[in-house]
Amino acid sequence: MSVNKETRRITTHTLQQMKSRGEKIAMLTAYDYSFAKTFDAAGIDVLLVGDSASNVMAGHETTLPITLDQMIYHASSVVRGAGRCLVVVDLPFGAYQGNSKEALMSTIRIMKETGAHAVKLEGGAEVLESVKRIISAGVPVMGHLGLTPQSIYKFGTYTVRAKEETEAEKLQQDARLLEEAGCFSIVLEKIPASLAQTVSTSLQIPTIGIGAGNHCDGQVLVMHDMLGITTEFKPRFLRQYLNLNDMMTHAVRNYISDVKEGNFPNENEQY
Ligand code: KIV
Repeated sequence: MSVNKETRRITTHTLQQMKSRGEKIAMLTAYDYSFAKTFDAAGIDVLLVGDSASNVMAGHETTLPITLDQMIYHASSVVRGAGRCLVVVDLPFGAYQGNSKEALMSTIRIMKETGAHAVKLEGGAEVLESVKRIISAGVPVMGHLGLTPQSIYKFGTYTVRAKEETEAEKLQQDARLLEEAGCFSIVLEKIPASLAQTVSTSLQIPTIGIGAGNHCDGQVLVMHDMLGITTEFKPRFLRQYLNLNDMMTHAVRNYISDVKEGNFPNENEQY
């Protein structure tokens, strides 16, 4: 699908309409201008500037180290590449947990300094006051329940969440609270498919799944995982659409041998 100037921008309202007519929402992460431009032109609905940038861009083990300034740098680059899709930015760890005023101030910086359209934050009841305050200021909020990587040291592992009845009930309650607070969508990460189906059918707003089965209203993957740039991360839920790591290694090896053998540049590649 090619995108021209007449193509209308996707809004949170568009996503709601997509859910109403049963059209699935395709979301990917992006962290820079060039990939955002390609994904947008390919027709992606939503780009998430995820705090997974901490892992895939900066090489950290968790999402905790990335700062608000770093998220703003990635997000402003993505916004410059995104002509049609909705751009959602993660509030990083430490930028909203203090209190709702801190959450709002971090959101205002993201909105002013990046030009993005919405923010995402992790958690349910415990972040509800912040969610309400951000939405009251006119900024759309996407929730995130299930495996919430900013709490990795509380969970201890990245295994499937909400398999037990009590946790599943809390997740359903949190999803209801987030919807009532005005969230336009909720990411459901690594929970049983049946639970994700129950939540998705009980909510009016769209759910976006990652490792949450096929009954969510949309899906999201981390771009480095689906393009095969990362090689070591192969969870069951991941479908890898390309082996970019192999392709890049091959190209770089060819370049190295061309340079070493004096085959690059040739006569047509010089002035
Ligand atoms: O940071 C991220 O990439 C995310 C997705 C996994 C949903 O939050």
